[in-house]
Amino acid sequence: MSVLITGGLGHVGSWVAYQLAKNGKKVIICDMAVNQFDRLGLDYLEEVRDQLVLESVDVLDYHTMYDIMLRHRDELEGVIHGVSVIAGPHFQQRPFKNISINATGTLNVLETCRILGINKVVNMSSGAVYGDAAGPQSESTPYKATDLYGATKIAGELYGLQYSDTYGMDVRNARLFFVYGPGKRPSHMHKVYQALFGPLEGLNDIQATNGSEQALDWTHVHDTATGIVKLFEKDRVNHRNFNISSGVTVDHLQIVDYVADMIGQRANVQLGPGPFVVRGAPLDISLAQQELDFQPRYTDIREGLQDYWRWLKSNAS
Ligand SMILES: NC(=O)c1ccc[n+]([C@@H]2O[C@H](COP(=O)([O-])OP(=O)(O)OC[C@H]3O[C@@H](n4cnc5c(N)ncnc54)[C@H](O)[C@@H]3O)[C@@H](O)[C@H]2O)c1
Repeated sequence: MSVLITGGLGHVGSWVAYQLAKNGKKVIICDMAVNQFDRLGLDYLEEVRDQLVLESVDVLDYHTMYDIMLRHRDELEGVIHGVSVIAGPHFQQRPFKNISINATGTLNVLETCRILGINKVVNMSSGAVYGDAAGPQSESTPYKATDLYGATKIAGELYGLQYSDTYGMDVRNARLFFVYGPGKRPSHMHKVYQALFGPLEGLNDIQATNGSEQALDWTHVHDTATGIVKLFEKDRVNHRNFNISSGVTVDHLQIVDYVADMIGQRANVQLGPGPFVVRGAPLDISLAQQELDFQPRYTDIREGLQDYWRWLKSNAS
């Protein structure tokens, strides 16, 4: 059987694709970046390349999405939806476009699945649905949007829950949080991410305007992907929403110190005052631990940073 992943060349989606392929699945990756596959530097996907089918599609192009899913329908176990414009200062600069990709893109995937009778969908959502509620935030913490991105993730979740209730579909929301690790280079990310992780890539002289007064629940991408795969593969679930993160809060300035200790020198890194994003932390992951047997491996971020550093060194550009 096969699994179709939208956004399967993204940071999280590519590791979900990798893990499913390692479990013996054929993986159909639908992503707008398919034509750049050879330039994305996703070395781990090369290892499972024979099990991947790459389909180039814009998630807003409903008709092409429909044609692709129709072509693969009979072999599909389900769909994992991972296309989004992720949170960050860029999001509000193109609100209509970014909200459309996140909200309407999710609706397009759900609607295509409904029409084609594809029952199981895992939607990559976010801890942003809790806004700045104090942590630990459990799945019963009420929705609260503190930015446009968060509003789109709440919308996507609600579409999924209503498609489940109205059409008997099995839509599950994986609430992810602040992902780091192999597959994404700090130099391709926003300034706060660069300030925290950039020295592992040899970056220096990084000035972020904010982010020093924040502690977040950073999650190694392997753990994020493992949680999503577990949620997808579980036959029956008793809940629809699951927090998937490390469950551990780490202060940003502490991460800067850990990185400096690791590489043996202190880069010139400045994080300005205040928080980077309006979020509480950490996520309470006990539901995923109990129901999915999800046990994140990198609860000590120093081990996650070591792994990230290894990958960056072996994939130096
Ligand atoms: N990265 C995080 O820290 C984080 C935290 C919480 C939730 N999430 C959620 O997890 C999911 C995956 O995040 P990620 O970090 O892998 O993102 P990413 O930006 O690395 O990947 C997104 C992928 O979607 C593709 N894409 C973008 N627009 C598209 C479109 N219109 N049509 C088709 N493909 C398109 C991109 O080419 C990319 O490969 C998203 O839903 C995001 O909201 C991520």
